[in-house]
Amino acid sequence: MDVLAVRLSSRPLSIFVVSLLIAAAAIPQGTSAAHKKTVDQKLREESTLSTFSNLIHNNLIANHTFEVRQATIFAPTNDAFDRYPKDIEGNVVLYHMTNLAQTLDQLKDSLSSELDGNPPLWVTRQKSPDGKEDIYINNAKIIRDRSNYLAKNTHSKNQVLHVLDEVLEPVTSSVPDSPIYNPDAFLFLDKFENLELEHRLRSFRQRVQQNNKADIFKAEGRHTFFIPVDEGFKPPPRPEKIDQKVIDGHVIPNRVLFTRATPCDEDYETLAFGDNLRVTISFTVQPDGKGSKLYVKSNTIVGDPNHATGVVLAEIVKANIPVKNGVVHLIHRPLMVVDTTVKQFLESIKGIGIEKEDGPLYRFYEMIVDHGSEFMTKITKLKSLTLFAPSNSAWNNSNLNNLIHNKEKMMEILNLHLVEQRLSLDDIKDNNMKQLFQVETAAKRKNLYFNILTSNENNITLTVEGGGVNATVIQPNIAATNGLVHIIDRVLGVPYTTVYQKLETDPMLNKTFHLGQQERFNEQLNDTRKRFTYFVPRDSAWEKAEIHSPSAHKKLFMKEFSYHVKQILERHLVVDHAYNMADLMKIANSTVVLPTVRDVLKIRVKEIEKNGADTNGTGYYLEWQGERIHVFRPDVECTNGVIHVIDSALLKESDVIVTGGSMPSSLLLSPLSFLAQLVPLFIVKFLL
Ligand SMILES: *[C@@H]1O[C@H](CO)[C@@H](O)[C@H](O)[C@H]1NC(C)=O
Ligand SMILES: *[C@@H]1O[C@H](CO)[C@@H](O)[C@H](O)[C@H]1NC(C)=O
Ligand SMILES: *[C@@H]1O[C@H](CO)[C@@H](O)[C@H](O)[C@H]1NC(C)=O
Ligand SMILES: *[C@@H]1O[C@H](CO)[C@@H](O)[C@H](O)[C@H]1NC(C)=O
Ligand SMILES: *[C@@H]1O[C@H](CO)[C@@H](O)[C@H](O)[C@H]1NC(C)=O
Ligand SMILES: *[C@@H]1O[C@H](CO)[C@@H](O)[C@H](O)[C@H]1NC(C)=O
Ligand SMILES: *[C@@H]1O[C@H](CO)[C@@H](O)[C@H](O)[C@H]1NC(C)=O
Repeated sequence: MDVLAVRLSSRPLSIFVVSLLIAAAAIPQGTSAAHKKTVDQKLREESTLSTFSNLIHNNLIANHTFEVRQATIFAPTNDAFDRYPKDIEGNVVLYHMTNLAQTLDQLKDSLSSELDGNPPLWVTRQKSPDGKEDIYINNAKIIRDRSNYLAKNTHSKNQVLHVLDEVLEPVTSSVPDSPIYNPDAFLFLDKFENLELEHRLRSFRQRVQQNNKADIFKAEGRHTFFIPVDEGFKPPPRPEKIDQKVIDGHVIPNRVLFTRATPCDEDYETLAFGDNLRVTISFTVQPDGKGSKLYVKSNTIVGDPNHATGVVLAEIVKANIPVKNGVVHLIHRPLMVVDTTVKQFLESIKGIGIEKEDGPLYRFYEMIVDHGSEFMTKITKLKSLTLFAPSNSAWNNSNLNNLIHNKEKMMEILNLHLVEQRLSLDDIKDNNMKQLFQVETAAKRKNLYFNILTSNENNITLTVEGGGVNATVIQPNIAATNGLVHIIDRVLGVPYTTVYQKLETDPMLNKTFHLGQQERFNEQLNDTRKRFTYFVPRDSAWEKAEIHSPSAHKKLFMKEFSYHVKQILERHLVVDHAYNMADLMKIANSTVVLPTVRDVLKIRVKEIEKNGADTNGTGYYLEWQGERIHVFRPDVECTNGVIHVIDSALLKESDVIVTGGSMPSSLLLSPLSFLAQLVPLFIVKFLL
């Protein structure tokens, strides 16, 4: 810089000044400690750090440090102080400095602060999505481009300034007569009455003492501790369930996890992670009425007779309390303990925590209370059940408004979310290995269909489709005594796509979609002013047609044949009316003639009798031209109609035999032609 200034000095003054400014800005801070403002001066001049500057200059020890000692200063911005709910008292500013000057790359896992007792500051390095590294001091993030300011003080001691976006909060005593300095997790729990804390921890402390587990809270090193507050120890049998293993399940060893510095939904092994019992913990964010809340969840992957498998969610009521051997988070209920029914879980989760704010399932709970008292009775009585519970934001669906006053429909929608057996993610995974897994719901004749999407071994996503809605499970396996709750991102049975969009996105309906792209057949299906009933052959229907009649099938997918394909598809589509299967059953028990786009569809609809000879299980079938066609997925509801997924196309060999000229005779269909075809030529038949 000096060289640069000399060389430029022969130039006109204005250019010199500008160049100098540019040069000064380009020199990385911290590379040269000479001829620089001291950290003290820098702090006094930075208007956005004035709050911290005042605090530190009014503190005798800190003020003196500037003059005579080495130091690293962590300065929270004024904004950080504005957000901080408390007054900064006593020596708390000393918690923001150390007696060793360290630039960012010199920071180790922990630093010793200058506060009485020298409590540690914990350092976490996190790769951010853009590849850069974020550094956290406890839960505060270092603002990189304002940090790493290195300068010598008047006694030639190195000092470094880093800027933080949050105030650091140490544990402080509330009883001046018997102060507690730098407590470890055990001392924190043992003496919480003497600390500034709005929560009581007696019940957990008692269980720790009775189970002789003090040692794990005293262990030196760097650990993460979860401590449930007293409010979380109801109902009465709960305290006894806090045994040694459960206490182990509240500690993540050898990691200090502050909430902002920890990725969500990453599993960490707890002390209860051995051959016979395996429990992990992760952090998770759940949206609520006002924004989102931070939860912690235990996942008992392998349980034993006293410890049920499954997930337990607990809201964090006070996060990020730094202690000598790590960090403590206070939670609203014990982890691992499964002692509530599904109903009790819903009741507790709707207004979880101390302030009775809205929990992650409060909208679902409201819906049940407002529209489904019978539903509540049902889930209370069931011994074994699985509930697919839509998240709060899932209910933000304008199509729901039309249904909300229809009691029968609302009851059906609720029932669609209930399966009367216990289905864990693993159960579904195992069942889905060979074939698409489906289960009956409490809604009559409505099934759920599952799919597992695997992007890698550790990341599987479960999707569930019900009533035409494809939802993703965002929180699986929440355990209750009589079953499981999976949180999903959409309300099942409340359509959100047009017939067009459904075809476009459903992998099972891909072939029909692509056939319909010819001759712009599909376009009409996006028209929300119309109503459709569309019998859609699923992909395997076309595939089996191919096996049965390769040449005919090949023609279907040839461009030259697109006009005829359009005509075939038109046979499957009823315009201006959305008939669900129950409607069709009523009108088509004996033969009904439905007006399709091109001709008419003459069908009968029958229910498959349970335990009957039919191998297709339960559901419906169509009778068309003497053939039985299984309805694989009935009542896929869309915003402008309904799709019934069928196992065979309404297709005859004659459809694709081109006679003479270019036009196949059988495609010149009229209502009468159906009668003429009572002697079917050859029917492409391919029941599963
Ligand atoms: C802080 O130190 C400076 C000298 O470095 C001194 O002038 C000032 O009075 C001190 N402030 C307090 C509050 O002691
Ligand atoms: C629902 O939508 C409204 C308005 O669009 C929005 O303010 C609210 O945050 C949403 N609620 C959830 C839980 O997503
Ligand atoms: C839901 O949609 C996804 C993506 O389109 C698909 O992979 C999955 O199979 C669908 N799930 C079900 C059960 O149909
Ligand atoms: C897991 O996979 C889903 C899609 O399959 C993807 O959206 C998500 O980002 C993946 N998550 C992780 C942590 O890899
Ligand atoms: C859907 O079908 C088209 C045409 O047959 C094919 O090109 C495409 O790969 C298929 N997509 C999927 C996801 O199967
Ligand atoms: C279908 O309609 C929706 C709105 O209802 C629109 O967003 C979408 O772009 C349309 N798609 C096509 C292919 O026209
Ligand atoms: C349908 O018809 C059969 C006789 O063909 C009769 O036994 C049955 O009750 C009818 N079902 C309905 C729902 O009308």
